[in-house]
Amino acid sequence: MLLKCLVENNAVSDDFKTEHGLSLYIETKNHRLLFDTGASSLFTENAIKLNVNLGDVDTLVLSHGHYDHGGGIKAFLNLNDKADIYLRKGAMDKHYSEQTDGSFKRIGLDESLSDNKRFIYSDDRVQIDDELSLFSNVQGNLFLPSGNESLFALDQDMMIRDDFNHEQNLVIQEAGKRILIAGCAHRGIVNIMNHMRAIGLEEPDIVIGGFHLYARSTDRTEPIDFVEALGAELMKTKSVFYTCHCTGIKAYNELKSIMGDRIHYLATGQIVETNIKGD
Ligand SMILES: [Fe+2]
Ligand SMILES: [Fe+2]
Repeated sequence: MLLKCLVENNAVSDDFKTEHGLSLYIETKNHRLLFDTGASSLFTENAIKLNVNLGDVDTLVLSHGHYDHGGGIKAFLNLNDKADIYLRKGAMDKHYSEQTDGSFKRIGLDESLSDNKRFIYSDDRVQIDDELSLFSNVQGNLFLPSGNESLFALDQDMMIRDDFNHEQNLVIQEAGKRILIAGCAHRGIVNIMNHMRAIGLEEPDIVIGGFHLYARSTDRTEPIDFVEALGAELMKTKSVFYTCHCTGIKAYNELKSIMGDRIHYLATGQIVETNIKGD
């Protein structure tokens, strides 16, 4: 597997612009896929700099219905006329973030796209082929991000706490390796990994994604004891982690001090091959 990070909150160098969001381009033996589109069309600019032709992408997976992951869908549709686009049904619901002054900010996707003929709404488990599969409906209450508490969905006229049933995770199986890719891990990275085991998938060799330990609306990072306990829990696995985006640099640095070379930061412009452990 070859991965190129098109968008993340930070960059490997000044050659790449950044934004609060996530977009990963991945080449496997059989696929050229995009995991999330970032918040805007920035991923298309960075794709050119990284020699990625987005017109060749055959599969787009949208992790969940937040603008920082699916804000670039329209830009993608303008560049690509063939990819299957997988998202959860609730991804197009109206999602909001509560601000420190008590107001609610829209953080959902562009609803005008919801009837797009290329959208494939994922069930709890989707086996795309031998290489790619998706799973959702993660249960469990271990290490749930407290930042979830400020995230809501509008149901009829009622603002209700987001249950993140619109979140899905991607598993890539290639050359005997398993790679788990999560977006924000709103349902909790430990619960997501436990769920993977519960549905009969072996522990991933590599885990990639944000852990939502930093809440942008409140500028708050999880307390150090939470992060330390999470790091200790992740060290019980044999996986190598590449984290980014909503993990936040402060929590990442704390995890790094506990996990050493078992965790790395993935920044815009970075290229990772499954057999290479970059930093
Ligand atoms: Fe995010
Ligand atoms: Fe999110």
